[in-house]
Amino acid sequence: MRSPMQQFIVSLPKAELHLHIEGTLEPEMAFQLAAKHGVVLPYASIEAMRQAYQFSNLQSFLDIYYAGAELLRDEADFHALTAAYLRKAHSQGVVHVEIFFDPQTHTQRGVAFDSVVGGIRRALLEAERELGITHRLILCFLRHLSAEEAMRTLEQVLPFGDVIAGVGLDSSEAGHPPSKFAAVFDRARRAGLLAVAHAGEEGPAAYISEALDVLQVRRIDHGVRCEEDPELVRRLVRERVPLTVCPLSNIRLRVFDRMEAHNLKRLLELGVCVTVNSDDPAYFGGYLLENYLAVQQALDLSKANLALLARNSIEASFLAQSEQRRWFAAIDAVAAADQLAFR
Ligand code: ADE
Ligand code: ZN
Repeated sequence: MRSPMQQFIVSLPKAELHLHIEGTLEPEMAFQLAAKHGVVLPYASIEAMRQAYQFSNLQSFLDIYYAGAELLRDEADFHALTAAYLRKAHSQGVVHVEIFFDPQTHTQRGVAFDSVVGGIRRALLEAERELGITHRLILCFLRHLSAEEAMRTLEQVLPFGDVIAGVGLDSSEAGHPPSKFAAVFDRARRAGLLAVAHAGEEGPAAYISEALDVLQVRRIDHGVRCEEDPELVRRLVRERVPLTVCPLSNIRLRVFDRMEAHNLKRLLELGVCVTVNSDDPAYFGGYLLENYLAVQQALDLSKANLALLARNSIEASFLAQSEQRRWFAAIDAVAAADQLAFR
């Protein structure tokens, strides 16, 4: 049974804008894929696997995340993974998803790019038809690899132009500034792709400014360290640059030591276009509903705050304005039913 607050969150139409599809690999599916491909996992049970998800920082998570991704080997695996995520998202009131995938993680070990994109895309199209969830697909470059390798990956995907909406930047942040990928992002933008980047998760506020100035990104993924530079925060407000914040991820990766210390509410009240997202839900203990609920409880968010977060998620999405207006009206209707003034 869902509590009234859970029901309220589910009833708000929401977009999820920061979700790594490889990060939705639940231990149950990992064991199924291991059996299918004849792989012996270093865990005695599903529960033991879940228990092993204790991280001290971003890198300690990435090591386990990349090991898990090795279980994804053919088109059917990527389809099953994506379909399971979309069913879960739909059950929580998610109406639009912008999904990241890391092709280099897969092509480096011999999995064909077509199998990766083909499986993900087939599930996205089915979910659009059957559940009414709309989508965009965003290719992320691994920032711990070279800019030359990122450029080769980009050249490989340009023929898939209409399938991929944009490019992003993920993996180990510290020591890999956005400017390392300036030429790759230039080329991507010239080809009509939208740009986003992880910045200010473990890296400094200066990486956020660099992502905006050098990579010309439309959104910042995470961005919570922006507060270290008050002028940058004023810029985010002024230019209405969205942040795709991932609360449970931030706690599990020790960006904040507890949810009560998270800066999401402060940024929201300052007028930053903050959104809530789940990042890698199979590893961080919850999907979108659990992320909304965790910040609601820890930061004592009002229903009006939650409606604003949902509205921000639609505004920050790459949906056409006409579609955004439709969802704004639907959010307004939920808020009106509760007599909320949230804007
Ligand atoms: N890849 C998957 N999740 C990530 C995160 N939170 N930060 C950087 N790279 C990632
Ligand atoms: Zn991420």
